[in-house]
Amino acid sequence: MRIEVKTKDKTYPIEMERGLLYKVKEFIGNEQVFLISDDGVPEKYRNILQEQFPNAHMYVMPQGEASKCFQTLESILKAMLDANMTRNDIVVALGGGVVGDISGFAAATYMRGIRYINIPTTTLSQIDSSIGGKTAIDLDGYKNSVGAFWQPEAVLIDFDVLNTLPERHFNNGLVEAIKAGLIKDEKLFELFEDESYLEHIEEIIEKSIRIKKEVVENDEREKGERKLLNFGHTYGHAYESYYGFDRYYHGECVAMGMMSILKNEEIKSRLENILQRLHIPSSCDADKDEIVRLIKNDKKAKHDAVTIVQVDEIGKGYLQDVSMEEMRRNLG
Ligand SMILES: NC(=O)c1ccc[n+]([C@@H]2O[C@H](COP(=O)([O-])OP(=O)(O)OC[C@H]3O[C@@H](n4cnc5c(N)ncnc54)[C@H](O)[C@@H]3O)[C@@H](O)[C@H]2O)c1
Ligand SMILES: [Zn+2]
Repeated sequence: MRIEVKTKDKTYPIEMERGLLYKVKEFIGNEQVFLISDDGVPEKYRNILQEQFPNAHMYVMPQGEASKCFQTLESILKAMLDANMTRNDIVVALGGGVVGDISGFAAATYMRGIRYINIPTTTLSQIDSSIGGKTAIDLDGYKNSVGAFWQPEAVLIDFDVLNTLPERHFNNGLVEAIKAGLIKDEKLFELFEDESYLEHIEEIIEKSIRIKKEVVENDEREKGERKLLNFGHTYGHAYESYYGFDRYYHGECVAMGMMSILKNEEIKSRLENILQRLHIPSSCDADKDEIVRLIKNDKKAKHDAVTIVQVDEIGKGYLQDVSMEEMRRNLG
């Protein structure tokens, strides 16, 4: 299955197929390949790539968000120089959002920008982070504060690699698909209401990608429609900062964020049922005043109001300005 993403600079394919990891060579010509991954990605996947590109340098960083930093970026860029990578060569990223984000940014900055292929290996990266061209590293505890819009040559999705993903990470990524359903596609949301939603995993990923693709094509630089993808993220980011990116994963914070912002009781209870099935928390014990303070400090908050995404009818997310008092009241 192939979906094409059309951006201002270029059109690139998202290829989806079981076993695609064995066919990466088909997407690359004679150029030199620089592979980037992390040590949490099972070694067997790295080996499958290395066998296809025996001469490629393989850079493996420690797993985890802490690797998305200047130090790692510098060390990747140095290794690329040492490997004599030229402007015509290509970076291949194999991993979750951490690997994809920093590899994309390394590709965006090396020699003023070289090509890269993204092979996302987590649900979060297959559904969300590998599409849209946002690349970044964190600085001083501020997530994604240094980065670039840089589109990949191709995104290669092999559903089989998800078999080894720990369940908590697996479900964490699915929250972005639930979110996509809530703002744009009732059918996608309903797939999660089926006990055997796992049987629909390919359809879930494909539908989510189509939603993200459309939104991103209409609004590459997040001036309008792309903001809809931030549903649940205003409170979600505040929960992430509050807990120091440790206790909860991103998707879990977004899930709690969606529960905090939703007003429609029926949608809320349907969402809560789904979250329960996926063992994802729907609320937390964060200090409410502190959460509002964190939202105020966030760059998106203008003066005394903040633009959030609301959903009163599944599939129809919309933007709304909400006062800080109301943001506090929402938390009870
Ligand atoms: N660029 C964007 O638009 C965008 C959007 C959303 C999130 N993000 C970023 O994505 C990052 C989070 O991504 P993530 O949730 O994929 O986390 P992650 O990259 O840290 O991966 C989660 C864990 O799973 C391991 N792993 C990866 N693939 C595996 C597999 N197939 N089998 C077993 N283990 C595997 C990793 O080593 C890691 O330990 C954050 O840094 C976030 O800022 C970016
Ligand atoms: Zn998100």
